[in-house]
Amino acid sequence: MNILVVGGAGYIGSHMVKQLALTGCQVTTLDNLVGGFRDAVLHGAFVEGDIADRALLDRLLQAGRFDAVMHFASHIQVGESVQDPAKYYGNNVVNTLNLLEAMRHAGVMRFIFSSTAAIFGEPQTERIAEDHPKQPINPYGRSKLMVEQALEDYDRAYGLRSVCLRYFNAAGADPEGQLGERHEPETHLIPLVLQAASGRRPHISVFGQDYDTPDGTCIRDYVHITDLCEAHWLALQSLLHGEGSQAYNLGNGHGFSVNQVIEAARRVTGRDIEVRYAPRRPGDPARLVADSTQAQRRLDWRPRYAALDTLVEHAWRWECRSHSCQPA
Ligand code: UFG
Repeated sequence: MNILVVGGAGYIGSHMVKQLALTGCQVTTLDNLVGGFRDAVLHGAFVEGDIADRALLDRLLQAGRFDAVMHFASHIQVGESVQDPAKYYGNNVVNTLNLLEAMRHAGVMRFIFSSTAAIFGEPQTERIAEDHPKQPINPYGRSKLMVEQALEDYDRAYGLRSVCLRYFNAAGADPEGQLGERHEPETHLIPLVLQAASGRRPHISVFGQDYDTPDGTCIRDYVHITDLCEAHWLALQSLLHGEGSQAYNLGNGHGFSVNQVIEAARRVTGRDIEVRYAPRRPGDPARLVADSTQAQRRLDWRPRYAALDTLVEHAWRWECRSHSCQPA
């Protein structure tokens, strides 16, 4: 199988490239290296370029004979999307439509799309299933929902089949230690807590301790990057077997509070981690937990690394390897 991975030099994309290559696929990464890293692409061909460049997309897609495109290239920071919505609608929507147009013209009609829990907005149920109302509360969530809606129309009108995968909190690292999370600047909880453990940061700031949760800190559903990649693989198989377009929520169905994540990091690393409580971060819902029954039923998705300590341990191995600290 021959797959184009757009954004294959980023956190999730780079793990996907590795997984596809080890499964025997021919892989090409297209990445503009704005948020990604060339040395994170461990396999296959690499093309540096941007999905805003239609001529490049046409050349690549028409020559490539791809069976499918997986699209990971997007801006992902909720706060930034509020400050600079044009950046989010421009890249996440307009440029993605550019990619879809180039695919359509080249006859590449299978698409796996990185979506997000942010399309749902404030949760109205304890666990969020696919039929939960979609009322995003920030431009990031809206940009992803717009593409999901466009994909429904592209399916009906052009027969372009897609699977939208809505990640809850992607976390962890390649279990073999070759890849991990690398955002600049880093804003995600687990890597920041581990940087506090390794001494790269003096402390971790906990945003809010007055939420309506058992310990007052926010609850999230952390899902291992390898399990997310497995869901992409299963989604691809389903399209290749002729299934129609689908959308799935991907999480473990278990929520952990910020304090529980810090406790797990103390257990795994054996280090002291200094905590400072800070005000709430605007736009953070108290609790986001997935109901992934549909992905389990229809894709037969079975997360292998659901345990929080395993996820933190893999992320810690990456922190130590990439910044030469000593694991406990
Ligand atoms: N947090 C802290 N301190 C930090 C960083 C985060 O307390 O230094 C807290 C946040 O307030 C939140 C939790 O840790 O309660 C998790 O925060 P992350 O930034 O790691 O993840 P988010 O839940 O904010 O973000 C995830 C995805 C985003 C997506 C969002 C949708 O990573 O891409 O869910 O709600 F947009």
